[in-house]
Amino acid sequence: FLVDGQIHHWDGPVQDVFSPVCLAGDSGVEKKRIGSYPLLTEKEAMEALDAAGRAYDSGRGHWPTLAVEDRIRHMEKFAYRMKEKRGEVVRLIMWEIGKNLQDACNEFDRTLDYILGTIEALKDLDRAGSRFDITQGVAAQIRRAPLGVVLCMGPFNYPLNETFTTLIPALIMGNTVIFKPPKLGVLLHRPLLEAFQGAFPPGVVNTVYGRGARVVTPLMESGRIDVLAFIGTSRVGDSLKKQHPRPHRLRCVLGLEAKNPAIVLPDAKLDVAVRECLLGALSFNGQRCTALKLLFVHESIVEKFLDMLCREVEKLEPGLPWQSGVGITPLPEENKTGYLQELINDAQQAGAVIRNESGGLINQTFIFPAVLYPVTPQMRVFKEEQFGPVIPVVPYKSIEEPLGYVTDSDYGQQISIFGTDPDSIAELIDPLVNQVCRVNINSQCQRGPDTFPFTGRKNSAEGTLSMSDALRVFSIRTLVAGKLN
Ligand code: G3H
Repeated sequence: FLVDGQIHHWDGPVQDVFSPVCLAGDSGVEKKRIGSYPLLTEKEAMEALDAAGRAYDSGRGHWPTLAVEDRIRHMEKFAYRMKEKRGEVVRLIMWEIGKNLQDACNEFDRTLDYILGTIEALKDLDRAGSRFDITQGVAAQIRRAPLGVVLCMGPFNYPLNETFTTLIPALIMGNTVIFKPPKLGVLLHRPLLEAFQGAFPPGVVNTVYGRGARVVTPLMESGRIDVLAFIGTSRVGDSLKKQHPRPHRLRCVLGLEAKNPAIVLPDAKLDVAVRECLLGALSFNGQRCTALKLLFVHESIVEKFLDMLCREVEKLEPGLPWQSGVGITPLPEENKTGYLQELINDAQQAGAVIRNESGGLINQTFIFPAVLYPVTPQMRVFKEEQFGPVIPVVPYKSIEEPLGYVTDSDYGQQISIFGTDPDSIAELIDPLVNQVCRVNINSQCQRGPDTFPFTGRKNSAEGTLSMSDALRVFSIRTLVAGKLN
């Protein structure tokens, strides 16, 4: 683990990491052990905090006070070194979380692009903010200044990318960082530690590993974390915030849960709606916060929509992440197939049917996507964020039904609308943008391009991320002002 510019070797207890990719061996299916990570204690967490605090408070000539172009130089050095680790990191993304080769490569490349885009956004921000203006006889320069020590934690579904979407802007704005990789997707950060070590001064970037209660709770309870940057479940996000003794002094940047719906209007082009709903519901097996998790389809077209959707779902091939053309890969979360099976059983008991032939078939860590119909508000799958390959389809008569769902939902990230009549779509946009943060027309929900603001209302997020918004969220506007003599 990296603390204060040193990569420390750990002799204490470790946690083994097993891949969700099960391979057939002599004795049946083998769970492959692919590595381990250190189970650090409060002592190492506090050492990381002290190092990050010292690096922030050291004064002139140190990280937070370096000129923007110097911080950019460090970041470019990191990006260059990170690029050399592409093969190793991509391989670990596949083994640790079962992401297919193409998506694993995309995750890596998108992260590098994010770093380079953030550098450009910082140059723009710096140009815009570094002038002196005279207002009512006062000469003033408004600057963006860092906030302090940032604790960054990303989720298992984008273990590299979504850890770095907060870590990179936090760093480049002059904050110092402690980051804890997600427990699924932890090993892939190891090859990058040398890149961090070689590119940044000691204490600017530190890592901790282990159980949340042993390392994260003491950090939060210390009251010395200035910004909590967490992407994961709403339950964990809430409980972390509460651990800080002075929550009013804590800035939170949170990417939490969502249950994004699609509304398929009666005049929708069904080939477009089916293609986008399939992508939206099943990319990376539906394990995306932006995934489409509830499809409202007008009753006049629902049977046709279901036939077309099920035909496409049945074409998907399960396989190992590195095999080409694979559409369904193993699920990394412990007993995830069991949870999804429970949701399916609950819906079936309340009258829903699996509409595709292979829907819900389970083999080890694989589950074949299930299209459930008709789904009603009484079913668990109507409310719970399945975060997996289960597609609930809800027939509706009146547009008030899906609109009511959006208003009543505890989440407020995005929505997709499918239709061809511009007037009917336009009528929906105003009420919807007041409930969610992105309305997608004839396309699936998604975060990118990464220059777009990414956030959510209600339980879905706090703070806005994007290459430029994130620079603002990890900084504060300060003023240098003086009277003209
Ligand atoms: O899991 C949540 C991610 O922010 C989704 O990102 O829409 O680019 O897949 P994505």
